Formats: sequence, structure tokens, C-alpha cells
Amino acid sequence: MAISPELKKQLLQVARDAAGQAYCPISQFHVGAALLANGQIIEGCNVENASFGLTICAERVAIFNAISKGHNRIEALAIACPDAMEESPNSKMPCGACRQVMAEFSDPELLVLIDGVGEFLLRQLLPT
Ligand code: THU
Repeated sequence: MAISPELKKQLLQVARDAAGQAYCPISQFHVGAALLANGQIIEGCNVENASFGLTICAERVAIFNAISKGHNRIEALAIACPDAMEESPNSKMPCGACRQVMAEFSDPELLVLIDGVGEFLLRQLLPT
């Protein structure tokens, strides 16, 4: 699906804003995600827990939020990690679990926008 430059900017801005809602007392690493589904933008942030394994990433919160609203296909996803160091783009990339969940609800051509890094297709992040 073709996404206009304006919509890309909007998705990235919503992802940056969502990072401000992160609950991350352990890592202090705020992450925000914003996805497009049926013309709607749906966001998520990371939510940590004292038992760190129960933590959930921003990307999965956004995706599960969309699914719970009745959307089952994701058309684009933006991610923002404002606490990541500019010189370490790898720390801004989505984790493997989130890539797998993206694959469940999109297709290999899913556009993934990573704030400060660039644009990717899901097939580049999770080869089939
Ligand atoms: N985190 C995300 O929200 N998304 C990712 O793709 C990787 C990591 C969160 C989980 C945890 O709250 C914090 O970043 C540090 O790992």
C-alpha cells in the first residue's frame, strides 16, 4: 500500500508522542509505536514489570490494541525510541518477537518506519 510522505510524518509523530506514555521504570528506555489500519492510526508504548520478562514492547501493544479494536491487517508501522543514542541505530530496531507478531497481521511488504534510522519492508527485517 502506498503511504504518502505526510502520512509517514504523521505516523512517526504519533509514535514519538506515544513514547511519552511508556511505563519503563526499569530500563528508562521509552518506545512508542503507531500503526495504520483501515485508515486509522493506533498507538502503543512499552509497559514494563518488576518481573522484567512480563514487559511488553510498544510495537506489540500497538498491534494488540488494533486487533482488539477489530482490525486484523496492519498497513504501516512507525517506531520511535527517543532515548536511543543517535550513533547506535541498532538499538532502535524492533525485537525479534515483535517482527514475528508483525508478520502475523501484515504481509512481507509491510512498511516499517524507524525514527532516525529509515524505512524498511518487513521482508527485510524478517526474511521468509
Ligand atoms: N522495547 C520495545 O518496546 N520494543 C522493542 O522492539 C525492543 C525493546 C522495550 C522493552 C523494554 O521496556 C525496553 O524497550 C528496553 O528493552
